[in-house]
Amino acid sequence: MAQTLFICTILTFFTLNPSLSLDPGDFSLIEFGADSLFHGDYTPPSPPPPLSPPHPPSLSCEADLNGIGTLETICKLNSSLVFQDDDVYIEGAGSVHVLPGVTLSCPILGCSLTFNVSGDFVLSQNAALIAGTVYITAFNASLVYGSVVNVTGLAGDPPAQTSGTPEGVQGSGGGHGGRGASCVVDNMKLPDDVWGGDAYSWSSLEEPWSYGSQGGTTSKEENFGGKGGGRIRLVVVNEIEVGGSLIADGGDGGINGGGGSGGSIFVKAHRMTGSGIISAAGGNGFAGGGGGRVSINVFSKHDETDFFVHGALALSERASALVPLLFQCCLRATGELLSALILHTDV
Ligand SMILES: *[C@@H]1O[C@H](CO)[C@@H](O)[C@H](O)[C@H]1NC(C)=O
Ligand SMILES: *[C@@H]1O[C@H](CO)[C@@H](O)[C@H](O)[C@H]1NC(C)=O
Ligand SMILES: *[C@@H]1O[C@H](CO)[C@@H](O)[C@H](O)[C@H]1NC(C)=O
Ligand SMILES: *[C@@H]1O[C@H](CO)[C@@H](O)[C@H](O)[C@H]1NC(C)=O
Repeated sequence: MAQTLFICTILTFFTLNPSLSLDPGDFSLIEFGADSLFHGDYTPPSPPPPLSPPHPPSLSCEADLNGIGTLETICKLNSSLVFQDDDVYIEGAGSVHVLPGVTLSCPILGCSLTFNVSGDFVLSQNAALIAGTVYITAFNASLVYGSVVNVTGLAGDPPAQTSGTPEGVQGSGGGHGGRGASCVVDNMKLPDDVWGGDAYSWSSLEEPWSYGSQGGTTSKEENFGGKGGGRIRLVVVNEIEVGGSLIADGGDGGINGGGGSGGSIFVKAHRMTGSGIISAAGGNGFAGGGGGRVSINVFSKHDETDFFVHGALALSERASALVPLLFQCCLRATGELLSALILHTDV
């Protein structure tokens, strides 16, 4: 009994700080919560460096992308496209403008959508990019208010040798930046061992590039776990405007599965403006997924961005029907709230 209460207390503790809003005046190198997370977890090697060529050949503006213009000058994309087969690679010496309301989507786990342009990349109002990995390199990039880059729940495989997906059928949350939550009440274990999936990828904190992990299931027959969050990487030579949303959250596990863990977001630029949202939070579920990782490396930053890298809430109607006490616990079972949010400016 004492054991049980203790578990509830721990989970509650993490709920009290479910999100993090940063004072934009505070720059230098900041790492949150890392101390409390080095519990002797196994630290696997870093994932391989991002997208080393060979990549697929570039699509063309008009023939493949239904756009107007060329990738060597300006390519305006005015039709929404769904890519079903393969990774998408778009390269050119010019600029790409995704016009208002246009959605480019590759809604397959781990599918990548890469823009590699020497000019500008513009994602207009109500335009969206949806894939497992979105990688943009450009001279300037503008993700305007109302636009969204969303890799929620579209992770490919997390790095080998990691244990972000919990074992068993307890419906625990996936881990990545932080550990997933668990609703298990186990008197045979120390409270500190009652967690869902493990954290991983400590060695790439500065340039996070790992997928989140799937949550656990509650059924032997079916895998209900929410999928892991994908990856967003924006490498911009000069100026990036983040007025819209960058979302790499874990997928929702519903009432029968643990939430997936958040994915990875890395932004590198000389200057960053905009008051958008950057989120790599854990997915909701039977027990919540752990947060992902976010790293922002810019020389100067203006305006306020909202960062969310917290663990997720648990849904618990089912637990409630089974065991009232478990319900109390589970209501508060968030994945570990914060993994690593690094803000790094050189000024
Ligand atoms: C995109 O622009 C082309 C050329 O102006 C036009 O033919 C086409 O109808 C436009 N498509 C959409 C979806 O607006
Ligand atoms: C972008 O294109 C350049 C020039 O072709 C190439 O060297 C580089 O590897 C590409 N980057 C990515 C991320 O594909
Ligand atoms: C990039 O943005 C800067 C500042 O907003 C602007 O002066 C410059 O012309 C832009 N570069 C390109 C290639 O558009
Ligand atoms: C991102 O995608 C998820 C999963 O499809 C969806 O539930 C969520 O509403 C999307 N978020 C935004 C801001 O578009």
